[in-house]
Amino acid sequence: MRRYRRAMLLCSLLALLVILYVFNEIAEAEEEVPGPSPRVAGARGRGVDLPAAARPEPLNRCKDVSVSFWNPYWMLPTGVCAVNCFWESAFRHKVGTWSPAGTSKNSSWRMHLAVVACGQRLEETLTMLKSAVIFSQKPLHFHIFAEDELHAKFNSSLETWKTAFHQKFSHTIYPITFPAETAVVWKKLFKPCASQRLFLPLILKNVDSLLYVDTDILFLRPMDDIWAFLEDFNHTQIAGMAPEHEEPRIGWYNRFARHPYYGKTGINSGVMLMNMTRIRKKYFKNDMTTARLKWEDILLPLFKKYKLNITWGDQDLLNIIFHHNPESLFIFPCQWNYRPDHCMYGSNCKPAEDEGIFVLHGNRGVYHDEKQPAFRAMYEAIKSYPFGEDPILSLLYPLEKELQKTTNTYCGRIHQVFTQQLRKSIRTLQDKISKGR
Ligand SMILES: *[C@@H]1O[C@H](CO)[C@@H](O)[C@H](O)[C@H]1NC(C)=O
Ligand SMILES: *[C@@H]1O[C@H](CO)[C@@H](O)[C@H](O)[C@H]1NC(C)=O
Ligand SMILES: *[C@@H]1O[C@H](CO)[C@@H](O)[C@H](O)[C@H]1NC(C)=O
Ligand SMILES: *[C@@H]1O[C@H](CO)[C@@H](O)[C@H](O)[C@H]1NC(C)=O
Ligand SMILES: *[C@@H]1O[C@H](CO)[C@@H](O)[C@H](O)[C@H]1NC(C)=O
Repeated sequence: MRRYRRAMLLCSLLALLVILYVFNEIAEAEEEVPGPSPRVAGARGRGVDLPAAARPEPLNRCKDVSVSFWNPYWMLPTGVCAVNCFWESAFRHKVGTWSPAGTSKNSSWRMHLAVVACGQRLEETLTMLKSAVIFSQKPLHFHIFAEDELHAKFNSSLETWKTAFHQKFSHTIYPITFPAETAVVWKKLFKPCASQRLFLPLILKNVDSLLYVDTDILFLRPMDDIWAFLEDFNHTQIAGMAPEHEEPRIGWYNRFARHPYYGKTGINSGVMLMNMTRIRKKYFKNDMTTARLKWEDILLPLFKKYKLNITWGDQDLLNIIFHHNPESLFIFPCQWNYRPDHCMYGSNCKPAEDEGIFVLHGNRGVYHDEKQPAFRAMYEAIKSYPFGEDPILSLLYPLEKELQKTTNTYCGRIHQVFTQQLRKSIRTLQDKISKGR
């Protein structure tokens, strides 16, 4: 009798389990997104391998993100699917599969340069690219992220250069699109399109390393030489940048920032060297959870936490990240990212005084207004240099003449700093041109 009762009990327990299981299955089936769309992990970067056609309709993409206690996205209000939608727009264009012939097997062969160009930045971006092309030695690949209406113009200019510089560079042009519902969120806090740079490691998945620069950069020295810093990275370093300031008394972060920042004066992200293989692999310490987070998981919660306190957008996020992970940052000297701040109140970039400026960064629009005529003269000279002409006669001499007129400003007074390295680069270029003839 007792044995019988025990058997009954076991049976009913089993039955209960079966019923529970079936119910669970039904419930899960109902949660499934209708239609053929696969489950989306896009928000966390895993869905990116899906072919474009298999990606779900926009309507579903916010709902599909699994929201749970371990998922940092729980902090998002339900109406916002920012990074989720943002990435969807990026991956929409199958940029994750970039792989030009011959480079994927030997990616160290080419240098990769990325830029994000929006609005009125076409000419400025082309001038930056031009300075990279004319002085660099190793072949280059440009990754240009630009608004759709600029694509044809970029393409035709670059195709023209290719005839002048046979095979020395290649390029890919990618669109930037912000889904209507989140465009407002990103554009309000960030310069239009600038936040795109944070996503490059996730978008260009086949690229090992990359130099990101703002559009207002001019190379006065072969890009090869900044690229070479990648080799100097120690085991923990994943990115290289220059300090935001040399002089704490005029530093911005140390005086005004309402968020953590790197080092004494913060870092400037206008010239950013990335070993993206390492960025993709690393787990980052942070001040949101005790768990370390991967790059794709840290950006949005960070943005969410600090959005009321950040001023310079993505650069501030980078400062916060490297504040918590200082061992991962390689610092290169200020002459690799030389800005008006380095001379406008008096010279404070010592290495530039000794060796000249290597990479010029005309931020705050100084290439286009009258505030820093020395910066503007540099820009105009490179912009108007005709490819293939004698660079001493057509670039250096006219530039030096213009710089003479700028000595009423602090920056103009030290104009030999602007041309010291450039003169060397121009000599090398001239040798190359005369050999080519
Ligand atoms: C790979 O790149 C290196 C460095 O530029 C070059 O010397 C080598 O020949 C390349 N290897 C192949 C297989 O193309
Ligand atoms: C750029 O121009 C080349 C050659 O004219 C053409 O083959 C290519 O499709 C163009 N690409 C874009 C994005 O317009
Ligand atoms: C933002 O700034 C305010 C005012 O300085 C500060 O009290 C607050 O803690 C900051 N928020 C974060 C997330 O650091
Ligand atoms: C980037 O880091 C990876 C992993 O440590 C390494 O294999 C690769 O060579 C590095 N790239 C460069 C250009 O140094
Ligand atoms: C790499 O260099 C950084 C910055 O100098 C330093 O903080 C870090 O400890 C170094 N890592 C190793 C493994 O030496």
